[in-house]
Amino acid sequence: MSKVALVTGGMGGLGAAMCKALVKSSHKVATTYIGDDAPAHEWVAKMKGEGFDILAVKCDVTSYADAEKAVAEVVAKLGPVDVLVNNAGITRDGVFKKMTADQWLAVINTNLNSAFNMTKQVFDGMCERGFGRVVNISSINGQKGQFGQANYSAAKAGIHGLTMALAQEGAKKGVTVNTIAPGYIGTDMVMAIAEEVRNKIIAGIPVGRLGKPEEIAALVAYLASDVAGFMTGAELAINGGQHMM
Ligand code: CAA
Ligand code: NAP
Repeated sequence: MSKVALVTGGMGGLGAAMCKALVKSSHKVATTYIGDDAPAHEWVAKMKGEGFDILAVKCDVTSYADAEKAVAEVVAKLGPVDVLVNNAGITRDGVFKKMTADQWLAVINTNLNSAFNMTKQVFDGMCERGFGRVVNISSINGQKGQFGQANYSAAKAGIHGLTMALAQEGAKKGVTVNTIAPGYIGTDMVMAIAEEVRNKIIAGIPVGRLGKPEEIAALVAYLASDVAGFMTGAELAINGGQHMM
């Protein structure tokens, strides 16, 4: 029987590729969206036209109540969640001197507290059923820190702490928890960096280009698979050689 996968922020650059990869690996896939219903419905129709049947549930991942409601809807429509990808995220870059409390909190809430909100809804059930996969999307900048990203680097480093703790709690129950730390990938998030700054970043990537969403999505599909049961608590870097640990 198909397993159920839920990807937060699945309508974004990386998330859409993850949803497609999980459909291709025979999952029933759901994603979250925020904002208006109409664009979300359009996205679902477009995906359907391309052969990808994806359930979209409204959910601001910074809200515990939204997370509870959204997961309940996924369970009612598709069944219990076997795979959770905590992917939704934002940037609010700025040098620390200029960083406001709002910029700090927006990023911590969206990129870190969201993982608590979502994972709480599914982790116990995964442990009870004896199978689960949680994939937390961190960043190269959570591993090495990044000038102008004190908020983002803190949240992304924090999410791997959650991974390592939960991996230990899930290990005997068939539930793996892993972190993917992508480098710079060609999505809206990276295209929002000023061109001159972005070009300097690309010049520092040994592979000589930005990553592709599909390259991250393939790793998500692997971590979600049955064969990945021995990999847990890991932080997998996929960054074109920009940062080697
Ligand atoms: N290291 C050291 N110094 C740096 C620096 C760096 N990496 N980047 C900038 N500086 C210095 C500049 O040389 C400049 O120095 P002077 O004042 O002496 O001239 C000073 O810092 C100010 O730099 P800016 O003019 O760039 O400052 P700004 O306020 O206009 O912009 C910023 C600051 C928004 C942080 C901008 O530098 C920037 O966008 N940097 C890129 C941040 C980044 O990589 N974000 C990633 C977003 S995508 C993402 O997050 C996905 C992911 O996970 C990979
Ligand atoms: P993106 O295209 O901007 O997509 C981000 C997604 O998150 C969007 O669908 C967005 O929805 C959603 N989102 C934002 N705030 C939300 C909230 N409060 N509740 C629910 N959904 C929310 O960015 P991306 O590049 O695909 O990034 C995906 C993840 O990968 C992020 O966690 C990011 O930090 C991480 N990452 C990206 C890169 C990269 O280079 N692109 C590198 C390393 C890590 P809306 O569009 O409706 O706002």
